[in-house]
Amino acid sequence: MTADINQPLDQEYALDRDCTTLSRHVLQQLQSFSAEAQDLSAIMNRIALAAKLISRRLTRAGLVEGALGFTGNVNVQGESVKKMDVYANDVFISVFKQSGLVCRLASEEMDKPYYIPENCPIGRYTLLYDPIDGSSNVDINLNVGAIFSIRKQEGDDIDGDARDLLQNGHQQIAAGYVLYGPSTVLVYSIGRGVHAFTLDPSLGEFILSSENIQVPQHGPVYSVNEGNFWQWEDSIRNYIRYVHRHEGYTARYGGALVGDFHRILFQGGVFLYPGTIKKPEGKLRLLYESAPLAYLIEQAGGKASTGTQKIMDAVPKELHARTPLFIGSKEDVELVESFIEEGVRDKKETTMAHS
Ligand code: AHG
Ligand code: MN
Ligand code: MN
Repeated sequence: MTADINQPLDQEYALDRDCTTLSRHVLQQLQSFSAEAQDLSAIMNRIALAAKLISRRLTRAGLVEGALGFTGNVNVQGESVKKMDVYANDVFISVFKQSGLVCRLASEEMDKPYYIPENCPIGRYTLLYDPIDGSSNVDINLNVGAIFSIRKQEGDDIDGDARDLLQNGHQQIAAGYVLYGPSTVLVYSIGRGVHAFTLDPSLGEFILSSENIQVPQHGPVYSVNEGNFWQWEDSIRNYIRYVHRHEGYTARYGGALVGDFHRILFQGGVFLYPGTIKKPEGKLRLLYESAPLAYLIEQAGGKASTGTQKIMDAVPKELHARTPLFIGSKEDVELVESFIEEGVRDKKETTMAHS
């Protein structure tokens, strides 16, 4: 069908936009129809299918027997597992079956990597994911998300422990998240900018809604669970005292990393999940929470730090390794880092004074 030259331009534009689906956008980004480009496009399409299935379950959860509440089990993280965690985890496994693309899945909800038999060893991609991020929000109908990262398998993984995944964030070939909010939004990058797609339920398609998103260099939001105030290092408390005392800061904390991150991506600011004296490594998991978001924020012109090194440079010792996370606008992350550096200096001076 050739566009009717007399058709109003906006109608033609609207039609073209509605056809800018996720799989098409990936191919446009890669400027290629190679086998590798088609693979990545197909993987993103299956992630989109997972998001649609989980979104459908979430929007009807209150009406579906057994959708909400706890399973009664505790996962490898030592956290009580929600029924929605299990459902979402199983959805990600199912959408990649018979795909030939993804041999291994590494999930927050599974102790060991999961191998999809028919896809191994042909499937050279690995999906690392947090199937439901912000589980504590599920039963109270507040926003939750999913976080994903795609890596390419290196070597043969003969002993089945996916040791090649224990590398820094630069090994990621794509990353993104899904935000289940008033609308379901999928944000991704394959290293050529950050782009957002909104699910159009009437089409059943994710349609391009924001392209080449850039995080503001500074923003008003600081996002942290201040209930942990007395658990932190002094340097973090000093940062919080600073933002309490200075004009222009506002606290926002939603209990789901994906929602807090999404706000900061568009409005600027910083999200903090510091380590504590008892648990210096903090709560958030590197491979499928912090590293994918660090990939995105750097693509969007922002910064992500453990407090002492870039998240993207951090190398995990094991699949579910945790690190502290400071992520968002460059200026705001660097302000937090300056307090941490000052704390390290003060500790050194105190140690020297006592030696
Ligand atoms: P998950 O539900 O996948 O375990 O993630 C929850 C994380 C993150 O989404 C959120 O920012 C943080 O836990 C909230 O932790 P606190 O309740 O300790 O603030
Ligand atoms: Mn999470
Ligand atoms: Mn989770």
